[in-house]
Amino acid sequence: MSDDKVKALEVKRSSRLTGFYQQSPERRRARLVESRWLAPEDARACEGLGGFDEACADVMVENVIGLHGLPLGVALNFVVNGRDRLVPMAVEEPSIIAAASYAARLCAEGGGFTVQADAPITTAQVQLLEVPSLEAAREALRAGTPELLAAANALMPAMCARGGGARELEVRVLDATTLVVHLHVDTRDSMGANLVNSVAEDLAPRLVALTGGRAGLKILTNLADRRKVRVRARVPASALASERFQDGAVVRDAILEAQRFAELDVYRAVTHNKGVMNGVDAVLVACGNDWRAVEAGAHAYAARHGGYRPLTSWWKGPEGELCGELELPLATSTVGGAARTHPGVQRALKLAGTSGAVDLAGLAAAAGLATNLAALKALSTDGIQKGHMALHARRVAAEAGASGELVGIIADRLSRERVYRPERAREILEAEVARRQGGRR
Ligand code: MEV
Repeated sequence: MSDDKVKALEVKRSSRLTGFYQQSPERRRARLVESRWLAPEDARACEGLGGFDEACADVMVENVIGLHGLPLGVALNFVVNGRDRLVPMAVEEPSIIAAASYAARLCAEGGGFTVQADAPITTAQVQLLEVPSLEAAREALRAGTPELLAAANALMPAMCARGGGARELEVRVLDATTLVVHLHVDTRDSMGANLVNSVAEDLAPRLVALTGGRAGLKILTNLADRRKVRVRARVPASALASERFQDGAVVRDAILEAQRFAELDVYRAVTHNKGVMNGVDAVLVACGNDWRAVEAGAHAYAARHGGYRPLTSWWKGPEGELCGELELPLATSTVGGAARTHPGVQRALKLAGTSGAVDLAGLAAAAGLATNLAALKALSTDGIQKGHMALHARRVAAEAGASGELVGIIADRLSRERVYRPERAREILEAEVARRQGGRR
């Protein structure tokens, strides 16, 4: 399909799907088909474990004895670089998908998320010990760099054919006799872990020969700071107003106070960043990515200046709007690994409409900025429990026997009444069912 045709289709797809949260999973899938986010066969395939079976699992990991499911949802209202997007999220914690959708709607009021991402560079490290002369070794590596890069590229012809390959060699001194060589490789749409690990192992003898040292570890670094993504959003102060907080500027200032708290206090900064990673990780899990690698890199990046800091910043913009930014290293992949073996991951990637790993990183970062904004807004206004109680109300409604859209209707009533007793849920349910039957007669 031509780019123009793709664009024309995209223009017609809106990420705003009103009432979605009140519908049944079946109806939601139908909505995604109607609004052209999912092909009918993909919608059908989402049911149950989404085609994931023991045979798939058995080739993914060892000692498989069964399967382990997680809820898969979509966050709505995302506009990223001007394009409406649905964000697949797999996560066990309630509120995260709702929070992301809510904050994305606020950000859409200011034009949506603007994402800018680095090239997909994955870095391998080779540790060189007992180096007789650091100076001579550095000089030899500097002079040998073109040849080393060529040798590295010869080890990955398929990656070079896809437009990737070794880009740079960097040398760092760790102590009086230890060097580490960083090989920066553009791994295109893959995370590139296996690839750069193999290249590092195969290149090590050359590095030993040039430096006179002894090769130690050969492994990628998960501090992927050549592969960062930056996402920004702005929310007009008026959009932050609510029934209880009618002046949006007051809410904005409360959010800025929450931000300052995280800047001043490591105990708060960690929780603040957990709220960021709620969004990032849920996208990575849905899309079968190595979220542990991203977690490790994100927290190291948060501590890059010595102290541990919030990954996001929020400030007041020139028009009184709330402006936010998230920057973090984010190594993602849309090919290989689970993207090849797991049918649910393949569908999540389709749903996300990713054009590749860099794009997926941007989407995950947008989700992270959104979940952070939602948490800060809730914490600095109503408190986080209000939203949690709304979800609790849904559970009570379901336990009382409600299903489909009735769950949302009963839960809304329970929340309004601030009563979460199963007997009350049953009463409301019975009245609602009787009302509907009366209407049908
Ligand atoms: C809970 O999963 C995440 C929050 O604790 C984040 C935060 O405190 O900013 C609500």
